[in-house]
Amino acid sequence: MSKPNVYITRSIPEQTIAELRKTCDVEVNPHDRALTREELMNAVKGRDAVITLLTDNVDAEILDAAGPQCKIIANYAVGFNNFNLDAATKRGVIMTNTPGVLDKATATHAWALLLATAKRISESERYVREGKWKGWSPMTFIGQDVDGKTLGIAGLGRIGTMFARKAAAFDMKVIYTNEQRNFDFEKDHGATFVDKETLLKESDFLSIHLPLTPETKYYIGAKELSQMKPSAILINAARGPLVNEKELVEALRNKVIWGAGLDVFEDEPKLAEGLDQLDNVVIVPHIASATLDTRLAMGKIVTDNVLAVLNGKAPITCINP
Ligand code: DGY
Repeated sequence: MSKPNVYITRSIPEQTIAELRKTCDVEVNPHDRALTREELMNAVKGRDAVITLLTDNVDAEILDAAGPQCKIIANYAVGFNNFNLDAATKRGVIMTNTPGVLDKATATHAWALLLATAKRISESERYVREGKWKGWSPMTFIGQDVDGKTLGIAGLGRIGTMFARKAAAFDMKVIYTNEQRNFDFEKDHGATFVDKETLLKESDFLSIHLPLTPETKYYIGAKELSQMKPSAILINAARGPLVNEKELVEALRNKVIWGAGLDVFEDEPKLAEGLDQLDNVVIVPHIASATLDTRLAMGKIVTDNVLAVLNGKAPITCINP
């Protein structure tokens, strides 16, 4: 009997690929880049399972190109805004993601961005590397204190919760918005549930931890930025289109808010015009979950899902509605 046929759209950890190879024929995108749309259409043809990345737009056309034998598309990511779930469900294709295992790395990364922005780490490091430092001076690179400040969190899901828990180390007041109140979290961590307007007005640091949906797109734009404190810092390690990047550039340029720390962008890898010219923003290339432990754990979930479905069993993290 021939082995099931699995395609992986971008190289992922060797251990994950080796595990799949024990029972499947596995082919991996040979290029060190995302596939073009046309390449993806060809690559998925005739596969029993496809492992995709957040850069692959898996819509009805791709599902049709894969063909009716395709049983599962497993995203090597927790976010799945690149999937058309309805189209997959209609065709009987299971879709899965990798929830839970990115929480620690992503929450830590959001903190790294927050601290780097508050303490002007990128800007001052550039200054040293460029040979501009002429010696200690009391008023160079004045940053912001974090201790005792108000931390606003938009979205208290798994990652938002993990991020919020670390605020205790800085003795911060935590306020949050979420679809639902989390009474246990409020009791255990002294957090306060607020509406969006209060979140914008009162946060010294505002970190977004929302999924990207049509409703959350541009959760932060010019109007919201104008409601924030001029001393506020915005952090986004979730999805780029949650923030209107062009309007954020304007706000940062005009000091409507003090700074921003961004891991994600509206049209990756492109940046909104002028963003990389600003000193009051820390920008890194969508690496919040990039730790080896996390990547391996993501690989384990992807493998478990693919092997379960190929063996006629239920996937562990199905996201079809
Ligand atoms: C995800 O999984 O959604 C991250 O953004 C990338 O690992």
